[in-house]
Amino acid sequence: MDIKNGSVVTEFILLGFSAPWELQIFLFVTFSLIYGATLFGNILIIVTVTFSSTLHSPMYFLLGNLSLFDMCLSSVTTPKMIGDVLAVHKTISLWGCMAQIFFMHLFGGAEMCLLVAMAFDRYVAICKPLHYRSIMSNRLLNWFVIISWIIGFIHTMSHMVLIVNLPFCDNVIDDVFCDLPLVVKLVCTETYTLELFVIADSGVLSLFSFVFLLISYTVILVTVGRRSSGGLSKALSTLSAHITVVTLFFGPSIFIYAWPFNSFSGDKYLSIFYTLVTPLLNPIIYTLRNEKMQGAMRILRFRDVTTTQNF
Ligand SMILES: *[C@@H]1O[C@H](CO)[C@@H](O)[C@H](O)[C@H]1NC(C)=O
Repeated sequence: MDIKNGSVVTEFILLGFSAPWELQIFLFVTFSLIYGATLFGNILIIVTVTFSSTLHSPMYFLLGNLSLFDMCLSSVTTPKMIGDVLAVHKTISLWGCMAQIFFMHLFGGAEMCLLVAMAFDRYVAICKPLHYRSIMSNRLLNWFVIISWIIGFIHTMSHMVLIVNLPFCDNVIDDVFCDLPLVVKLVCTETYTLELFVIADSGVLSLFSFVFLLISYTVILVTVGRRSSGGLSKALSTLSAHITVVTLFFGPSIFIYAWPFNSFSGDKYLSIFYTLVTPLLNPIIYTLRNEKMQGAMRILRFRDVTTTQNF
């Protein structure tokens, strides 16, 4: 690495929040509670889906894996962020920073694909109910999960190969964790092409997936609406949970990556919302609105969890 002032950047300084200590303690407690609830909620969903005898449909298989992605995504940044709230020197090593970016985009990209698969699942379930179980075979479901991992991996590697050897001229990050737009800003060399690439890879990708998902959900609703009006309200009640999750997931990421390089002050809060709150909202939305899920959780409490179930 060749740096202007001769020193090589080996760690970054995260500015985090500059708040009075009462507020910092409040943030520490709040973040810890939210993260605890996220772990609890998502693990509860994974356990329920795995061990319950009533939740053997493809939708719950995908939902279980979505919870897994959510839990991982939140764990990439949140524990470090919580530790940093009370720390005086908030630093992260160069490789820690790269690891955060790598895993965030691995799990984020994978989750994006899984949300598309979940939309496809709803499409088949609602528009082709008679063929549902034959189309959504266990084989296809496993492929959905594997492909999500692969796409997440390709997505994150495409960034990593570009940024991993860049020379940094500054090491102060005005945020609570590392992310692409923040790190690219610190690069010494001309970054115009790199910025364009990040916008194309992360921003446009999430924008397109989001528009694609909204169109799919609209198609489902229109198809159902043509058939019967009773079906429409039923479909709307299942799909509203999906549409909410999709909006919460893609909204912030479009905001962060589609216009990443003209920073605005809300960015820090948006990234916290994205990594702290969204992974908690998914389990809340899916369980509070889903009586079958709640029923299965209730039954599980009275059953021997070690009973083996085949999917
Ligand atoms: C997630 O996917 C894997 C691999 O396809 C599967 O074995 C597992 O049961 C799924 N997890 C849940 C909680 O459904």
